[in-house]
Amino acid sequence: MRLHFGTGMLFLILRLFEIMSVERVASSNIVADTVDIIKLIHELSSSLLKAWNLIEDLPLGNSNDIPLMNENQRQIMSSIEQVNNQISNLEEKQAEYFTMTIETLKREFHAESELTHKMTYVGDITRSILQRYRDMIDYNKYKDNVNPYTLRNFAEWTVKPGPSSIGYLLEMLHTYIYGEAENNATQSLFAKLVSSYESDVEQLCASNRSPQQFAYDMYTKATLIEIKGYIMLEFSWMVLRDFGLGNFTQQMLLMRSKYQQRLQHSQQILRQVLAYTGRIYWRCDPRPREHVLGKTYDEITRLMQGYVENEINLNTESSCYQSCEDYQDVRVTGCQKNEFCNDQPKCAGRVHSCRFIDSNMDVCQSYGNSSRRYEFIHYDNDRLLNIDEDGIQNLVCSRGSNRVKSWSFYLFWRCHYCFCLCDEPGPQSDRFFSLRDTLSDFKQNKIVTGARFIKDQRIFHLQLQQGELLPGGLINQSSLDWIPLESFDVNHVDIRNGFDYHELTFESRSLGLDEITAKNDSLVVTGARFRVIDKHLNLAVRFSLFNFTTGRLLNPEVNSLWLGNNADKPRQKLLLKNPNKPTKTTVKSVPLSKNNQFMEFISSSMDMDAAQSTVPFIDVQDVVTNPAMSISGLGIYHKGKKGFGGFFAPKIVTFNLLHKLMQPQT
Ligand SMILES: *[C@@H]1O[C@H](CO)[C@@H](O)[C@H](O)[C@H]1NC(C)=O
Ligand SMILES: *[C@@H]1O[C@H](CO)[C@@H](O)[C@H](O)[C@H]1NC(C)=O
Ligand SMILES: *[C@@H]1O[C@H](CO)[C@@H](O)[C@H](O)[C@H]1NC(C)=O
Ligand SMILES: *[C@@H]1O[C@H](CO)[C@@H](O)[C@H](O)[C@H]1NC(C)=O
Ligand SMILES: *[C@@H]1O[C@H](CO)[C@@H](O)[C@H](O)[C@H]1NC(C)=O
Ligand SMILES: *[C@@H]1O[C@H](CO)[C@@H](O)[C@H](O)[C@H]1NC(C)=O
Repeated sequence: MRLHFGTGMLFLILRLFEIMSVERVASSNIVADTVDIIKLIHELSSSLLKAWNLIEDLPLGNSNDIPLMNENQRQIMSSIEQVNNQISNLEEKQAEYFTMTIETLKREFHAESELTHKMTYVGDITRSILQRYRDMIDYNKYKDNVNPYTLRNFAEWTVKPGPSSIGYLLEMLHTYIYGEAENNATQSLFAKLVSSYESDVEQLCASNRSPQQFAYDMYTKATLIEIKGYIMLEFSWMVLRDFGLGNFTQQMLLMRSKYQQRLQHSQQILRQVLAYTGRIYWRCDPRPREHVLGKTYDEITRLMQGYVENEINLNTESSCYQSCEDYQDVRVTGCQKNEFCNDQPKCAGRVHSCRFIDSNMDVCQSYGNSSRRYEFIHYDNDRLLNIDEDGIQNLVCSRGSNRVKSWSFYLFWRCHYCFCLCDEPGPQSDRFFSLRDTLSDFKQNKIVTGARFIKDQRIFHLQLQQGELLPGGLINQSSLDWIPLESFDVNHVDIRNGFDYHELTFESRSLGLDEITAKNDSLVVTGARFRVIDKHLNLAVRFSLFNFTTGRLLNPEVNSLWLGNNADKPRQKLLLKNPNKPTKTTVKSVPLSKNNQFMEFISSSMDMDAAQSTVPFIDVQDVVTNPAMSISGLGIYHKGKKGFGGFFAPKIVTFNLLHKLMQPQT
């Protein structure tokens, strides 16, 4: 009688899922809401293997005893439901973070027909496998009404040799994605998709992850399909066996060995690809014309700003014997009666780089609440300073413009109006960078997971995001928060320049462009600060030692160090030529700087902006991957487009996932 062995089988299947759900509970404590495919593979494979080994020892089912679905099959099915829940759980988590599908990827490849072709196959095969997987889940959902023959047909169809069997489809899928075992990994579709992601700004912008994370996620997606196929095969053999159609030991062993071979091969490809794939994540610009001051970017103000002044006010003799070009670093010394200086706020700092453009002009001043002095300047020779966005000369001045004219001085001289740059520290000039340390709450095992610039009380800070470190380099996603700013006021008596903050000046206004990354995979970032070396502002990063297996920082008070680029080799200066405001581009910026370079804050283009702004601007968007990940480096770089001032922004270096694959799984 079936009942006898049925009970035994039932017992075993229940045991199987007991094991699996125990492991699931255990692992969910650890993995929390992070995604990890390697762990899932290990859990599923080992539990399914254990189960089958037990089932194998039982007597066979009886093929004469079929008409109604028996309790066994019902149980097989509800067990499948549990396995499926486990998979969906991971899938859901992944979908939250990784929205890219075969279809969206295919769009990116319109130019490369060979890849597109392969992607189409991959898409078709994936659809067939997933459709059949859904059938299996549906049988389960409606198990009370499913005819046992339907189930048996499904199982036979799934395992029967031939081009529509699941086993065959899985082989095909694997070969399309990872190539043949003897081929070079770089030639596989997988490797090509990763390279394409790494080189394509648009793809990088669409999904917030480093190229290495992308590779890992692609691998996860492909492996989930592999696992679903594998479960269908296991399920089918169990069903067929229960129908008394054979013991299928040989077939099972073969099926499993192929599954293992594919898994090993795909992991080997993943390892090879990860070894050369980049780990940098940087944040793209918002769409053109969606830049918002204070939200996506911010500015240094009135550092070196276009300023119109007459020669007579630039020397102590109130004379006009020289030319504009002779005034390179002076102060405003007076104000002639009835002249323009009475109608504009005087430059209260130093006046640099004067030049003569034309004698007479109309000056349109900005409102007092603006960081600009002028909207535009229109010279009588028709030269216009601040051509508006579309290049159309919009000469409407809402405040009414000032007529500004040079005049004769004795017989031979003229008192010219010069166009200079005003360096004017004061309440309207935001030019500070905090020099204070920012540390993650390492006592609570929190490490740095992201960064952003933020302007607070006129001071730029590099604010850091922190999260709790878990085993395997994972981060507890519900523990993420931005480390509260140490807010301070530069005017407070206890706050000192060079100690609490750095004030940019004409002489000291450059930012070092570096990426500070730990070479040692046992180090993660736990802090950062700016410092000033040779008048250059640059980044230092704090690293702490941790244990990958336990996910604990190892005595971080002791095992932490600060690293920075101490510029042993001279830094290379990056120049901006006649830069327009970066918010005026119609294309997105791309990273333009390399390590050990620096760039000065300068005034914006005279023609494009009347030199009213300070560039580069500063990108203040969050730089965090999704999901957040432990990071082993932090950097400051410059991104932009030719002809525009671009942005300074932070970038992060994600933890080396290769390290994860090298570790024994626990
Ligand atoms: C694989 O191909 C890459 C680039 O085409 C090449 O640099 C590498 O040496 C090749 N590896 C092997 C093992 O042939
Ligand atoms: C399974 O069947 C084969 C032949 O049909 C037999 O040789 C083998 O011993 C059986 N295995 C078990 C575990 O019953
Ligand atoms: C600045 O002041 C002008 C006139 O008082 C007003 O129209 C404008 O909206 C103000 N701009 C800002 C940014 O407050
Ligand atoms: C993750 O963080 C949340 C919020 O801090 C906490 O409640 C939860 O226990 C953490 N989970 C793990 C696995 O540490
Ligand atoms: C990383 O640093 C730790 C502590 O200094 C050291 O024990 C370990 O050997 C280093 N690992 C590598 C790969 O250098
Ligand atoms: C990490 O922790 C595990 C478990 O406590 C321990 O076995 C292992 O030796 C530790 N590794 C290092 C590098 O400290």
